[in-house]
Amino acid sequence: MWILLWISQVSLWTLSSATVHLDVVNQWNYLSFDLPYHFTYASEIRLDNTVFTGLEISDDRIFIATPRLRAGVPATLSTIPRHVPPGSGPTLSAYPSWQLHGPMRGNVNCSQLISVYRMKMDSCHRLWALDSGVMDSLDEFTRICQPKLVVIDTLTDQIVRTVIFPNGVLRPSSLLTNLVVDESVQGTCDSSFIYMTDTAAPGLVVYDGLKDQAWRLSHPTMFPDPDHSDYNINGETFTLMDGVVGITHSPRLATVYYQPLATDRIYSIPTSSLTKGPPAEFESLPISLVGRKSSQGIALTCSPFDNTLYFSPLQETSVASWNPLSNQQHLLAYDSERLQFLTDMRWQPDGSVWCLSTRFQRFFLRTASSNEINLRIIRVPTHFHTLDDINNDLIYK
Ligand SMILES: *[C@@H]1O[C@H](CO)[C@@H](O)[C@H](O)[C@H]1NC(C)=O
Repeated sequence: MWILLWISQVSLWTLSSATVHLDVVNQWNYLSFDLPYHFTYASEIRLDNTVFTGLEISDDRIFIATPRLRAGVPATLSTIPRHVPPGSGPTLSAYPSWQLHGPMRGNVNCSQLISVYRMKMDSCHRLWALDSGVMDSLDEFTRICQPKLVVIDTLTDQIVRTVIFPNGVLRPSSLLTNLVVDESVQGTCDSSFIYMTDTAAPGLVVYDGLKDQAWRLSHPTMFPDPDHSDYNINGETFTLMDGVVGITHSPRLATVYYQPLATDRIYSIPTSSLTKGPPAEFESLPISLVGRKSSQGIALTCSPFDNTLYFSPLQETSVASWNPLSNQQHLLAYDSERLQFLTDMRWQPDGSVWCLSTRFQRFFLRTASSNEINLRIIRVPTHFHTLDDINNDLIYK
């Protein structure tokens, strides 16, 4: 059984643009980096190729991943301070240090970070950064290093663990882009299970942190659907055949939710079928269709308290929620300017959802301009309960 997750054009017309509650935490035209003195490659930096796709939040810092989608991205993992004036655009500092970021070309040192799409914090204040090892993934697609997980203790900013993935769990075009750290199965931190999305050779890679073993699963639901590979955002259209990339987890329901980019569907799989070890040959996976959305999306996040799933239909430039237990659906925010192409979302304990809004379509089509705001961190409160609540709020403003 599956349900239709609405957000139709009709319901959006009842909302006027740019009025629903959301807070702009930070915003930038282009990102700027705190370059070390005498940075060798300063003239090769291409901020028009530098777009963030990964967000993580600690008490005092915001972590940002800028993958090397094209040439000229100075650092692939950075931080900004969390407590800065709303709407400011702080300079990014390479994390954990510039020494850990390889040059944009030339000599490669695979101990350094090559291209990180996303990272997650565990309960020991450690950041699990997933490094795809692929340079220029939108253009040349060159895997220059094996993909790896780099675990950084954010209290000391030291690397405490590195896991390098062997070819056995990869395919020639593998691109590891997103992850869930599951601390609910066999313990926290080093005992976690990590579930990772392979977007270009669609599948999931599972890593058992206790046994230090990894394996791979694949299923047709992880592949892109050619009928949903065109994206129209504010009148600009581009095509991208990307497989599974959105992933989140409900520890209480022991369920992982995922979505390819090029699809209108969200799927789920019980964590027990991920953690039990490599699937047997011809084994069928217990995958369920969770629902259909009005359009494609990348980011997914889940409240660990009430299991509400948050997602963002790209073409409707909105944030919506669905609770699989109560079947309640809500449109939380719609804003054609400030909610463009969300590349990551993170539920926060204060009941808000933080979003990376990117105008990715403009970076992709090379139409981004340094004179306009292109990148935002947005905080969306989730306390609205129904579409009527949002409308009432607009009416009585
Ligand atoms: C590679 O990078 C690591 C981390 O920055 C560093 O410790 C190591 O010395 C580098 N190796 C070479 C050969 O440069």
